[in-house]
Amino acid sequence: MDIETLKNTLLQRVGESKTPNEVLKAPEFRELYAKIPTLAPEERGPFGRQVNELKQAVEAGIQAREAELEESNVRPIDVTAPFDVNAKQPVLLPSENGTTHPLMQEIQFVSDIFNRMGFVTEDSREIDDQYHMFETLNFPKGHPARDDYDTFMTVETDKDGDPLIAPAHTSTMQNRALVKYRDNLASGEAIAAIVPDRVFRNEDLDARHEHTFYQVEGIYVAKGVNVGNLVATLQAFLEEYYGRELKTRINPFYFPFTEPSFEFSLECPFCEDGCTICSQSKWIELLGCGMIHPNVLKAAGIDSNEYTGFAFGCGIDRLVMMKYGIEDIRHLESGKLNFLRQF
Ligand code: FA5
Repeated sequence: MDIETLKNTLLQRVGESKTPNEVLKAPEFRELYAKIPTLAPEERGPFGRQVNELKQAVEAGIQAREAELEESNVRPIDVTAPFDVNAKQPVLLPSENGTTHPLMQEIQFVSDIFNRMGFVTEDSREIDDQYHMFETLNFPKGHPARDDYDTFMTVETDKDGDPLIAPAHTSTMQNRALVKYRDNLASGEAIAAIVPDRVFRNEDLDARHEHTFYQVEGIYVAKGVNVGNLVATLQAFLEEYYGRELKTRINPFYFPFTEPSFEFSLECPFCEDGCTICSQSKWIELLGCGMIHPNVLKAAGIDSNEYTGFAFGCGIDRLVMMKYGIEDIRHLESGKLNFLRQF
């Protein structure tokens, strides 16, 4: 290729490149420089000048191309920024306009009542393993009731290769609380703990069902504990919480981790003859409970012949709905300020 044709080729490359400076490193230049020492001495001068002129032409092309690229990068500013140097400092909302979320206020209140009754408050967790969600709660592998809990699984697995889960109930904490406080029993003290926290279920949503809601778990173990103690504790708690006498209903139910098991319902505060919120039943189911199954005590290393206990899991969102007459549970997680500012 003669030098004139090469110049056109290189200038075209410069004109199309986003990094035109790179063209100076083209192999064609290296070949031209390498050729100079191989020429006869009288040819070297004129050839060298031609190469130099070529290089200068390419450098001029690069400069023009870089200016062109820079110009295309400049964004036109045709809107004046709304900035006024004389304006006052931004006004922050007074702190009294912010409030604690109603669910957090109520969890604190629930916790205070149980603390006064001698229960300690334990923290839960928002990712757990299947050992605590099922095995320690007397749901062996393949137990059909595992499917009742519409559990969200994560893609990460635990040491047994089972998917980690978003807890579907606070009962995942039963085993941990029993193990933590089992030495109380030897010294004649009861195990008495509550665990309030957030739980998650993959279920159909309606006025009473959320995918993300709060429960408070209660665990009580000592010598000679019976169903009467369970019912009296729950009735005392609910009457303290609502500040009045209540009509409650207890139905037999089934949970693998309690035997016998019950469902505790409150009379629907929204109607007299049945409504959509209570599914025309006049009662709203508030919590599940029962006497802790001997296998659950054994899994925590507690002698089930010597000690008995009760456990309950209460839906806090429903507790709060009935306290304030909130007709749809979904308001609570909605983040709507006109709803939240009422509390
Ligand atoms: C349980 O979760 C058991 N772990 C309760 C338990 C604990 C029984 C200890 C025995 C011993 P259940 O699935 O019924 O049970 O839920 C308990 C309460 O959580 C319900 O009564 C209700 O108040 C609340 N709840 C359940 N599902 C939802 C939901 N999707 N949205 C809002 N609240 C719910």
